[in-house]
Order: sequence, then structure tokens, then C-alpha cells
Amino acid sequence: MKAIIYEQPGAEDVLTLGEVPAPPLGPEELRIRVAATAVNRADLLQRQGLYPPPPAASPILGLECAGEVVEIGSAVSGWKIGERAMALLAGGGYAQEAVVHYGSALHVPSVFSDEEAGAFPEVFLTAFLNLFLLGELKAGGIALIHGGGSGVGTAAIRLLREAGVRCLVTAGSDGKCRRCRDLGADVAINYRAGDFAPQVREVTAGAGVDVVLDAIGGKYLASNLQSLAVDGRLVIIGLMGGAKAEIDLASVLLRRLRVIGSTLRMRSAQDKAQIVASFLARFGAALAAGRLPPVIDRVLPLEQAAEGHRVLKSSVHFGKVVLRVL
Ligand SMILES: NC(=O)c1ccc[n+]([C@@H]2O[C@H](COP(=O)([O-])OP(=O)(O)OC[C@H]3O[C@@H](n4cnc5c(N)ncnc54)[C@H](OP(=O)(O)O)[C@@H]3O)[C@@H](O)[C@H]2O)c1
Repeated sequence: MKAIIYEQPGAEDVLTLGEVPAPPLGPEELRIRVAATAVNRADLLQRQGLYPPPPAASPILGLECAGEVVEIGSAVSGWKIGERAMALLAGGGYAQEAVVHYGSALHVPSVFSDEEAGAFPEVFLTAFLNLFLLGELKAGGIALIHGGGSGVGTAAIRLLREAGVRCLVTAGSDGKCRRCRDLGADVAINYRAGDFAPQVREVTAGAGVDVVLDAIGGKYLASNLQSLAVDGRLVIIGLMGGAKAEIDLASVLLRRLRVIGSTLRMRSAQDKAQIVASFLARFGAALAAGRLPPVIDRVLPLEQAAEGHRVLKSSVHFGKVVLRVL
């Protein structure tokens, strides 16, 4: 099969279209003929040799895909050949075929194009896990999302709006802030104009937010803690602003804050199946009704994966960069 490959880690132009053997199918796995996949920030790190895939995962890039089920393992239930699937992958999406544990796959709602389905699993399940399962957000709560224009950020805005949670975001330009508000964010703060924490306290009448979803890390730690309400939860999912910072434990202790670190990719197939099932129980009706479409910035052919990586690196995108495979 055709797939995006690279001989050595490096800059975007190491990515080329090559020929590799199709992956073997396990008894609990589906084989998906991939129609679309999408670029995630983690792919850029993996390409540079900075984020190795988990043991036994495909070394091919790609954390999600959508397409047609063409083969089914002997121990799979709930799937038929010919059905449309979208799936969370530990790797292997930038290819004509991917195999995945059936618990990591979702049936594609009829309202979704292949491109929408290929852009859905990684960012919506990340946002769901961290905001609702780990962050324990409830209707009437309030959350702050950093990178509101990112793939994860745009998914988070959709889910929070659907769940009746007030949504504050940060983004790096007035244009992105406007688009976040158009998408459903209640407040969008241009972080380049100054520290976000005073603005968060102002728009929450001094109370702070219940949950901060953070992919920046060290650089934002102090302001994130200042932005939280009593009993607030800081969920850290990325380290784009560094891994080290000093922490004021007095504020953590006195305001009963929780700091939670989280990765989705490294979790077991059983964990992922539970996350998918919880997502469908909570948001399945909204998904089927077409109320949770991913925001697609652009669609590129698979062979232009390098261009997709350049787009993400430059941060000019809003939402997802999709790679069309067939
Ligand atoms: N732990 C997990 O399980 C998990 C799963 C999925 C994703 N993630 C993480 O979530 C984050 C978002 O992923 P994504 O694929 O949605 O990313 P993305 O679409 O590439 O967006 C990232 C955005 O973050 C903003 N940003 C703010 N500060 C930045 C900085 N210092 N460096 C670079 N960008 C910065 C940029 O927008 P502005 O123009 O607004 O600055 C950028 O467009 C990444 O850190 C990713 O690794 C974690």
C-alpha cells in the first residue's frame, strides 16, 4: 500500500509517498481502507524524532482516520464489512490502509463527509476526555481553553456549547478570536495583548473558571492557577510553552486546586474503548444530528503531507488540516 514515509527524522521535506506492506490484522481489529486522515500537532514532533510511537504501534504517522471497513478480526463485534468507520489510532493514519482495535472506532454519522470523519476522532475525544471525564465539567460550569483556533480548541468549543458550559478561549490574533466567538466561544482573549489571567478573573466576576485545558505548559502555569476557581482543575495536555515552571503550592492548597496531566495516545485499547463508549453515551445524539462537525481549515492530498505540516507549524490554520487519501 501507499503511505507517507521518511528515512530519517527531520524537517517537513523528509516526508515522501512510498510503498510499504499493509499492516497485519489482529483478532480484535478492523481494517479500514482510509479515505481521509488529518494532521495533528503531535505528528510534527514525531516527524522530528521527538515523540516516538508507543510500543507495538505503527511507525507511520497519523493519529486518526476515516474510511470503509474492508476486513474484520475474528473477535470483533458490532461491525460489518462495508460500513464507514472513523477511528482513533496510535499511529498509521497517513496510509491507504490502517488497522485498529474495534473499541477505538466509531460509526460515521451519515451527515459527515469522509473529510469531516477523518478530522473528528483525535481532537473530539481529546477534548471530551480532558474536559468532561478528567475535568468533570457539568452544565452551567465554565472552562478556559488555550489555543481556541487549534484542532483541539475548535472541538472543545463545539462540545462545551453543546453541553451548556460557558467557554472562554485564548488565541493568537484578533481574527482567530473573532472566529472562535463565531463558533460559539463566549469570550475570546488575544493572548498577545497581555496576560490572560486578569481578563479571565474580570469576565468571571473574580470567581475564575472550573477547568483550564492547557497545551502550553510551563509558560502558562502561574497564570493558569490564577485563573482557576476554588476546587478548579488544570488539565495539561501539551507542552508547547515548555515543561518546567515554579509552582505556588500555597494557591493549590488553599484553593483546593488539582493539576492533572493527560495523554490519550499512550492509553490501552481498553481505556480508549471506554472513552469512546462514554463519548457516545454523552454526545452520540448530537453527533448523529450533525451538531458536532469538525472545523476544517483545508483539505490536501496525502502526498502533500509535508505542506500540511508546514501549515500547522505556521499556525495560520483554524481547525483541522485534512489529508485526502483515496
Ligand atoms: N495529551 C493529549 O492526549 C493530546 C491529544 C491531542 C492534542 N494534544 C496537544 O494539544 C495541542 C493542540 O493540538 P492540535 O493538533 O489541535 O494543534 P494545532 O491545531 O496545531 O494548534 C496549536 C495552536 O496552538 C496555538 N499556540 C499557542 N501557543 C503556542 C506555542 N507556544 N507554540 C505553538 N502554538 C501555539 C497556535 O495558535 P495561535 O495562533 O492561537 O497561537 C496553534 O495554532 C498540542 O500541544 C497537542 O500536542 C494533546
